[in-house]
Formats: sequence, structure tokens, C-alpha cells
Amino acid sequence: MKALITSGGKGTRLRPITHTSNKHLIPIANKPMIHYAIEAVAGAGIQDIGIVYNPDTGDEIKDALGNGGQWGVRLTYILQEAPMGLAHVVKVSQDFIGGEPFVFYLGDNVVVGGITRFIEDFKREGSNCHLVLSKVHDPERFGVPEIRDGKIVSVEEKPKKPKSQYAVTGIYIYDSSVFEAVNHIKPSARGELEISDAHDYLIGHGYKVGYSEITGWWKDTGKPEDLLEANRLTLDRVIGDDEPVINGDVDEDSDIAGKVIIGKGAKIIKSSIRGPVIIGENTVIENSYIGPFTSIYYGCHIKNSEVEYSIVLEKCRIIDADVRIERSLLGREAEIVKCYSKPRTQKFIIGDQSIVELV
Ligand code: DAU
Repeated sequence: MKALITSGGKGTRLRPITHTSNKHLIPIANKPMIHYAIEAVAGAGIQDIGIVYNPDTGDEIKDALGNGGQWGVRLTYILQEAPMGLAHVVKVSQDFIGGEPFVFYLGDNVVVGGITRFIEDFKREGSNCHLVLSKVHDPERFGVPEIRDGKIVSVEEKPKKPKSQYAVTGIYIYDSSVFEAVNHIKPSARGELEISDAHDYLIGHGYKVGYSEITGWWKDTGKPEDLLEANRLTLDRVIGDDEPVINGDVDEDSDIAGKVIIGKGAKIIKSSIRGPVIIGENTVIENSYIGPFTSIYYGCHIKNSEVEYSIVLEKCRIIDADVRIERSLLGREAEIVKCYSKPRTQKFIIGDQSIVELV
């Protein structure tokens, strides 16, 4: 069995972060999100993985993932000239896949508990296509199955009137009949070859389409709120120990409580940290409070400030911020600093499509 993982797409809903960086490299609990996809696939014993990329961010992805040796897998990079839809991703990967069954895994999906169970269900049921479903409160954002008598009878992409409460998640398992589907369907109204249309084709042409339901949690990290939520859930899970893991320096005046990981070379000075929190290498936290569900990446400096339920990317500076920073996503090398010069005004240098909420 082989696997395909996506690393392309437009990332429009995560701008401005995705203006300068590939969305799949945004860290969740201080690890690029696409690592979770590779780990899930490698954990199911699959060693041959195609990473599908678009031209604009391909080098960044290749530099970040290399040949896959760190996971004991072999990564092959497959070019999709433009983000023309998920069925198009499958179509351009046909040569790589050959005649084998394969897992198609969207690199912006994060799931707990691995995917082995779904592969076993696919094999046991002898399906041509196996979909992984999750119950959601907003199915209209996803591919939605209609289920009758325990069978999927249709799949619709982002329907206005969903026919069930389920989302088709970004984990699919196929045999080679999916290539017939992706080679026959036509682009949708938004100009993409939709994976839901390929599924509908398979159902309509008598192929066996089975499903499993995710019982733990699953997140499509499409929007900033989803990223924060995925970060919360992941932190809670990956930091297994209630005892802090401290690889850096914590001074006597600091107080660390709960599930906390502090990276090498990090310094915690006169500060309070309440887990679950992860602090990256060489980050300095001084006279500050870092609250639950916060990930601070490497090389940051936080001084005289309070941060909670946030993701802070590498080399950010938060200095003398008067108000607690919460539910925030800070891109690389972002700065939030107090102004001491006159006149004391609010000054912003913010990228396109940034969001600032003032109190
Ligand atoms: O997350 C599950 C959902 O993923 C499913 O419920 C939907 O049926 C499916 O269409 C998809 O919807 P999204 O709107 O979330 O797809 P998105 O455009 O965000 O792309 C998902 C991943 O695929 C992401 O890693 C980007 C990548 N991608 C996307 C397109 C359209 C590509 O690599 N190439 C593409 O052409």
C-alpha cells in the first residue's frame, strides 16, 4: 500500500500567515502540521509516500521534509501545476500510485489515534473506496454523505442543505478504480475537480464505497480558530505527563504547573507557566504569564506580558503588552511591543489580510 499527502492548495483562509509560508508547515504543539499526517501514515506501516505540491511553495516543503528518512519512509514529490481540486491531485499521482491501493491524506487534517483501523476496515470490507466520517455541527463546510440503511448513497461537496450531520474527513482509502472516477468527472462550478464528485461517481457506477466513523477527534485546520483548537487538543494529548519536562533553565522565582514542555536553551525568568504549554528552544520568557493551551515556538522573547490559548511562531517578540493576549496566532518574527516614545499612539505595520482586535 502507498499513500498520498497534500501540501499544496491556496491556504486563503489562513492569510496572512500563508502569504509567506506554506500552511502545512504551521506548527501545532510546536511541530509542523504535515508531520502529523506523515506520522499517521508511517504509523500504519506505509513506507512509500507521495507528497503532492504546487510550484509556489514546493521548495519550502521539500526543504522541510527531505527524503522522509527521519520517519523511516520514502517521500516522492509530485507536482500539481496548480490547485485544481482534490480529484486533480489524485489524477496527477496516477503514475506514482500504479495499481496499488492507497491512502489519500489531506495534509491539513489532524486526527488522534492513527489510521490503521480505517485501513483494516477497508481491507475487511473489500471496498473500492473507504471514507472516514466525523460528526460535526457545521457539515456545510465539508463533503457530506447521505447515509441510508448503513450505506453511503451520495456525497455532496459543501451543500447548502446537508443530508447528514457527517463530514467526509480528509482521510480516504482507494483501490485503483478511483482513477476511472477522477478521469471522468468534470470541474465543478468553482472550477475544481471535486473529490466528492469522484466519490459520487464511484457510488453511481456500482463500486463499493464503505466508511468508518472517527470516534476520537479530528480537525480540518482550515481557519485560524480550527488551528487554535487543534493546538489545544494536541497539547492536551502529546504532553502526556502531568510533571513538567524541563530541558531549559527555570529560575527560582518562576512557577511551572501542569503539563509543560520547555525546550533546550529556553529561559524562564520570574514567570508563571500553566500547562498545557510548550515552549520552544532558545525562547526567553521574562516576568510574564503563559496560560493554558499555548505553543510558543523557538527563538521568541516574551517580557512583561501575558499570553494564553495562542500559537506564537518562531522569533516573535512580545514586550510590555498591557493586555492579555488570547486566541491569537502570531506569524514568524511578529512583534507586539509597547510604545514609549511621544506621541503615544497605536502604530501598526501589518501584512495584508491581518486582523487586529483592540480593547
Ligand atoms: O478536510 C476535509 C474536507 O477537505 C472534505 O470534507 C471536503 O470534501 C474536501 O473537498 C476538502 O475540503 P477543503 O475545502 O477543506 O479543501 P482544501 O481546499 O482546504 O484542501 C485540502 C487539502 O488539499 C489541503 O492540504 C490543500 C490541498 N490541496 C487542495 C486543492 C484544492 C491541494 O494540494 N491541491 C488542490 O488542488
